Amino acid sequence: MSVIERMLGRGPDKAPGPSELVVAPMRKRDLKDGVLETERHAYPTPWSQAVFHSEIDQMRDGSRLYLTARRPIVGRGKGRIVGHAGLWFAVDEAHVTNIAVHPDARRSGVATALMLALAAEAMERACTAWTLEVRVSSTGAQELYRAFGFVPAGIRKRYYDNVEDAIVMWCHDIQDVAYAARLAEIRGAR
Ligand SMILES: CC(C)(COP(=O)(O)OP(=O)(O)OC[C@H]1O[C@@H](n2cnc3c(N)ncnc32)[C@H](O)[C@@H]1OP(=O)(O)O)[C@@H](O)C(=O)NCCC(=O)NCCS
Repeated sequence: MSVIERMLGRGPDKAPGPSELVVAPMRKRDLKDGVLETERHAYPTPWSQAVFHSEIDQMRDGSRLYLTARRPIVGRGKGRIVGHAGLWFAVDEAHVTNIAVHPDARRSGVATALMLALAAEAMERACTAWTLEVRVSSTGAQELYRAFGFVPAGIRKRYYDNVEDAIVMWCHDIQDVAYAARLAEIRGAR
């Protein structure tokens, strides 16, 4: 069983239920299958296809991880990708580079599932902490990150398009038993 399957509580041979999310590594063909559309809805300055290609290429050397969340639709093949997220690994720290969910699929736990999978990978790769930047105006995202143990650690002035400030958030000690318990609680509440 992969670390992602383990963290999501699903074995490799168990087919997803009709409303179950399937979290999997991103492939280039996923970009036109929902990722770029979600990205355009999510950010004022969305990543281009070229940026995603470069990030996906860097998954080969293990310095990046990008995941998609797909929701099966009965009678419609593999369903559709409703969210994506990524991590950049730097020595023993992981940096969340992107997390976005299609507006039609928000507030149904998609970002939570993606964060659980990213956390599992960061822990598996022996990271001791993870970090991210979030727009001051993205209060919903800040709420999500707080649930995962992130706390504000500073401000990057005009980080976004030289206009909006970013809050830098960190979550330390992710190898501790207490952090595994926090993730288990989040997973159990889904
Ligand atoms: C932020 C974002 C990724 C959340 O995705 P999501 O799938 O809707 O999140 P979840 O359903 O897993 O939400 C988990 C919790 O986060 C908090 N949360 C998420 N969105 C929220 C919102 N708009 N307002 C308030 N709280 C919110 C809530 O506590 C929520 O739990 P609840 O629904 O039980 O109250 C999504 O709104 C998005 O793509 N936004 C645009 C891109 C963005 O801002 N990305 C973050 C960049 S740092």
